[in-house]
Amino acid sequence: MRYSMDVQWKLLLLPFASMLSSSLCAPLQPSSPGLMGNCYDYEIPVITQTQAQIFGLPKFSDNFDVSGLFGNLIKRTPFNPFAGTQNVTGNYTISATFCSPKTLNGHEKTVLLATSGLGYDSRYWAPSMNPAAYSFVDYTLSRGYSIFVYDRLGTGKSTKSAVSGYSDPQASTQLAILKSLTDDLKKGLYAGDIGQPSKIVHIGHSYGSILTHTLVSTYPNISDGIVLTGQTTNVTDFPAFFEAARLDIANTVSPGKYQGLDSGYLVYADIIGNAAAFFHPGNYDKEILWYTQDIAQPSAIMEFITGQPKDLGSTEFTGPVMVVNGEFDGGNCAGDCNGVTESNKEMFKLASAFEAVVQPGAGHAINFCFNATGAYSAIMDFVTKNGL
Ligand SMILES: *[C@@H]1O[C@H](CO)[C@@H](O)[C@H](O)[C@H]1NC(C)=O
Ligand SMILES: *[C@@H]1O[C@H](CO)[C@@H](O)[C@H](O)[C@H]1NC(C)=O
Ligand SMILES: *[C@@H]1O[C@H](CO)[C@@H](O)[C@H](O)[C@H]1NC(C)=O
Ligand SMILES: *[C@@H]1O[C@H](CO)[C@@H](O)[C@H](O)[C@H]1NC(C)=O
Ligand SMILES: *[C@@H]1O[C@H](CO)[C@@H](O)[C@H](O)[C@H]1NC(C)=O
Repeated sequence: MRYSMDVQWKLLLLPFASMLSSSLCAPLQPSSPGLMGNCYDYEIPVITQTQAQIFGLPKFSDNFDVSGLFGNLIKRTPFNPFAGTQNVTGNYTISATFCSPKTLNGHEKTVLLATSGLGYDSRYWAPSMNPAAYSFVDYTLSRGYSIFVYDRLGTGKSTKSAVSGYSDPQASTQLAILKSLTDDLKKGLYAGDIGQPSKIVHIGHSYGSILTHTLVSTYPNISDGIVLTGQTTNVTDFPAFFEAARLDIANTVSPGKYQGLDSGYLVYADIIGNAAAFFHPGNYDKEILWYTQDIAQPSAIMEFITGQPKDLGSTEFTGPVMVVNGEFDGGNCAGDCNGVTESNKEMFKLASAFEAVVQPGAGHAINFCFNATGAYSAIMDFVTKNGL
């Protein structure tokens, strides 16, 4: 089955309103991962002004309501979950970590700015379990680059309990936050001890790649290079992905684990849903799967229904673009990324360089496959050879 929601999901084309930010520099104590890097944790104030979608349905009272909504979202005829838009101001705290390499080789002023996808916070890039095998942050530092990771609104240590899953965490807000963080970083704020960065390379996973793509569509000059992982524009199968993930109201799955989240936040009903949506059999260690289940971040229903890959248009972006997909990604390539990963190039006609990599054997969560560092090596080779 193919993603057959062209009509209704076009409603999700988001008018990204003007946005502004105000920020204070507040370095806390250096944090882990500290072996290869000098790392600093930040609590970053971000003010957003966006035109936000309004959730137009009754809030979920139980998991039957959740399955009912997904049933409507995946059907082939139009379904509009929204009740219009409104202009809103957001005032959030975004939790972030900046690391620069301890061993300098001249690349440290190039900063990778990483945005995670649904189901994860910044630990997608910096898991505490077996970082030598899985940590993109550690790998980046080992190549002499700096990196900035953050928790999307509604996840990790960023503003969470104050924001309903039916409102704030949606594509326009997350985009405004990514824009604000980029502007701050360019000014040299939250950049640890490297001063002002010389270049910023945006990298995303899945929903984070959709935000990254939209960022450079909206502001073509904002980035010096982008790496989109776990995301295709041509062939997708999100109905299968959603069904495989088996999403339920987070507080019914793990009462007390996700305190303060309302019923608009969903998480896998069990680890099998996580495995089915993100991992490919035979290419992952069950131990890391259990770790990802432990750190799983509920996603706001508004994130699921805003910001779809189908809405991504072509861009004026002129920097280098890389796309990396797990070979057997179910949601993004309908289970086979060979031959379709290359097609993202259509969106980046002005890119100075384009490279597509299919990561052998991997599922959607590339960073937790057996050969994650193989993918990291390809990514950092691309960054280096494009002069970033
Ligand atoms: C939102 O702001 C835009 C531009 O600032 C304006 O054109 C539009 O009418 C506003 N919409 C609402 C619902 O207030
Ligand atoms: C944002 O919220 C903080 C904490 O409540 C407050 O101190 C600050 O004044 C607010 N900023 C704006 C621009 O409203
Ligand atoms: C953005 O980049 C384009 C092409 O490189 C250039 O023509 C344009 O002036 C830039 N715009 C801004 C606002 O810097
Ligand atoms: C997009 O996918 C279709 C198959 O669904 C294929 O025929 C087409 O060539 C693809 N486009 C590109 C640019 O790869
Ligand atoms: C590991 O990943 C790299 C980058 O995609 C790839 O070139 C290499 O063949 C992979 N190794 C194995 C054993 O799959």
